[in-house]
Amino acid sequence: MVAILGYSREQIFAAVKEMYTTVAEAPSSPFHFPVGRPACETLGYTRERIESVPWQLVASFAGVGCPFNGEAVGVGDTALDIGAGAGNDSFIASDMVGPGGRVIAMDITPAMARKLAETVREAGVGNIDVLLGSAEQLPLRDGAVDSITSNGVLNLVPDKRRAVAEMFRVLRPDGRLQIADVVIDRPVSVDCHTDPRLWVECVVGATVEEDFLALFRDAGFEDVHIVRSIDYFAHSPSAQTREIAASFGARSIEVTMRRGPVAPSRARQFLQRMNPRRVVASLWRRGFMGVAGLGLALLTCYGTVVALTLLATLGMGLTLDRTLWSGAIAGFAWLTVAAVAPGSRFHGRPWPAVAAATGAAVVSFALFVHYWFVIELGGFLLLGAAVWWDIRARRRQESRILGLDAHAGS
Ligand SMILES: C[S@@+](CC[C@H](N)C(=O)[O-])C[C@H]1O[C@@H](n2cnc3c(N)ncnc32)[C@H](O)[C@@H]1O
Repeated sequence: MVAILGYSREQIFAAVKEMYTTVAEAPSSPFHFPVGRPACETLGYTRERIESVPWQLVASFAGVGCPFNGEAVGVGDTALDIGAGAGNDSFIASDMVGPGGRVIAMDITPAMARKLAETVREAGVGNIDVLLGSAEQLPLRDGAVDSITSNGVLNLVPDKRRAVAEMFRVLRPDGRLQIADVVIDRPVSVDCHTDPRLWVECVVGATVEEDFLALFRDAGFEDVHIVRSIDYFAHSPSAQTREIAASFGARSIEVTMRRGPVAPSRARQFLQRMNPRRVVASLWRRGFMGVAGLGLALLTCYGTVVALTLLATLGMGLTLDRTLWSGAIAGFAWLTVAAVAPGSRFHGRPWPAVAAATGAAVVSFALFVHYWFVIELGGFLLLGAAVWWDIRARRRQESRILGLDAHAGS
């Protein structure tokens, strides 16, 4: 069973369906995210667009942007709306594609699909088909649609890479995608499974902006660019949600792109993901650059000793420039300090950074002033303790912000 931040896929789907059944059936309930007509107005839907949609669907609008700023939908299109919800965007798309086109409105929550299907029937709209289905397994043949709209959905999907591959599969070559979704600056790393509500409130399942755009580029989409960035959570009625969003740098973006001719091979996609710049950026954001710095320092120090000893037993001598070697070890030790220090701003504890700096200074003393193995080892132990302390403090702070501290001690 795949688990993300402690959640099982079943837990995520159940929480999504429960939350969006309430949005469909009781839209005037209190939510932690903006809903209904006020949300549409805040996010920039024009009055004409809002008024072209039946009021009961507008009332259950739960999008995070206005994807139509991406201008993907054209006259005569077969247009897919993934995670259509009550169908606000599907109705707008139905006007845009005209009588010669079709809109396929698909959602995983039966209550949403039911509400939309009933309204389509009552309003006598002939060009909207409502489907129940998952973004990870679209019930459509390859190249079946000319354009795709998605508003506030991908952050709720457990396997985002698979969902994006599915979008690529069902879109015809050169077809366009317009998407509004939540992105973050710093990924959540604590286990949140004790509170499934956190996933459906749109921050915990969201992706770092750079990784979000890379998901589409890796899958073979081209001209991927951000049309608009919105301080979406500033409009949340919940002070806690506003605090969570601010701590993780959560906001929504509207993105537009075009499907390239072919999907890159799996090997090429893997190499793109392993790009050293992306790997380092990802380690840095997750607070693991300290672990990487310490690992490199230890490897350069003791790994080299082991390698030299092995070579000597094989009769192969190798001379090493001691200053260069010591410089590399000290460099990685101080890199560890540089990676630990910014954590203080997040968790407010200066001690991990102080311990890391002391550890690096001790290692440097042993390397450049007076070598004694015990001193060097003590410096590394202090560095290791500082790295562990920083990760623990970051996680505790995340738990506090997310309101998980009641469970944190258990
Ligand atoms: C934030 S709401 C947005 C609804 C709609 N796009 C709108 O703008 O009002 C997200 C919608 O995505 C649907 N959803 C969540 N996960 C999904 C999945 N894996 N597959 C399909 N739909 C999903 C939910 O049921 C919900 O209706």
